[in-house]
This record gives sequence, structure tokens and C-alpha cells, in this order.
Amino acid sequence: MTQPAIELSPDARKEIAEALNQSVAETAVTTMLAQNFHWNVTGMAFGELHRLFQEIYEDHFQAQDDLAERIRALNEHAEGKLAGMLARSKVEEHDGHQSDREMVDILMKAQETIAATLGGLGELAANHGDTLTEDLAIERGRTHEKFAWMLRAHLG
Ligand SMILES: [Fe+2]
Repeated sequence: MTQPAIELSPDARKEIAEALNQSVAETAVTTMLAQNFHWNVTGMAFGELHRLFQEIYEDHFQAQDDLAERIRALNEHAEGKLAGMLARSKVEEHDGHQSDREMVDILMKAQETIAATLGGLGELAANHGDTLTEDLAIERGRTHEKFAWMLRAHLG
């Protein structure tokens, strides 16, 4: 049965918000990564990768907002500092000097990392009866797995 967010116990809300904050952080770091690579990619596949990386950062930018606003619906604080996001994120920054192939590989692994974080978030939310967070985690997980596949397909 669906539990209204505000009726969850304070401990449950805190725990779910922590996992949501990690999801926001990893999504935000990957947004920057995709935009960085959109700017700096070179090679014969420039046009296609330039567009794919843009599709990724535009998707992720919107997703950060959806995830962070779910934290607020749980009446918890959304991490808004870049340094705080970097500290929480298992996805790391890169300088943009990589080859096109390395960029695709780094972004693919970032998608897999976020998908795994969202998998954990979905389970946690389900255990607390927070169906709406679970639904968001599942929807976002599906998108990240789609991008992981699209990137993986470039690597042959
Ligand atoms: Fe652009």
C-alpha cells in the first residue's frame, strides 16, 4: 500500500533522502561529465557523439531536479553544493582530455554506477512502503540502463 511521504517515520525519510541525495549527486556529476565530453570530444564520430552526449546531459539535468524535489517532498534537505555532490558521488570528474573511446567508456560506467545506486534506492523505498520514490528510482534506472546500452554499443 502506498504510504504518503509525509507519514513515513523520520528515520525512514532520512534514510531514503540520503540515497536520493547520492542519486542526485551522481546524476549531477554525470551531467557535467557528459557536457564536458560534448565540448571536448574529437574524432571521426564527432557529430554523433557530440549529439549523444548532449542528449545525456539534457536528460540528466531534468532528472536531478525530479530526484531533488522528491527529497523535498520527504521534507528533507537536498544537497545543493557541488563539493557536497562530489563527496557523495561514486562517479568521478574527468578533465576532458580523453580519447572518444575513453569518453564513451567513462560515461557508460557512470550510467552503470547510477543504475546500481538507483536499484538500491528503489529497494530501500519499497521496504519502507514509499512507492512513489520506488517508482522514480525504477523509471530513472531504466533510462540509465538504456544510455549504458547505447554507449556500450559504440565499443563493439
Ligand atoms: Fe552544445
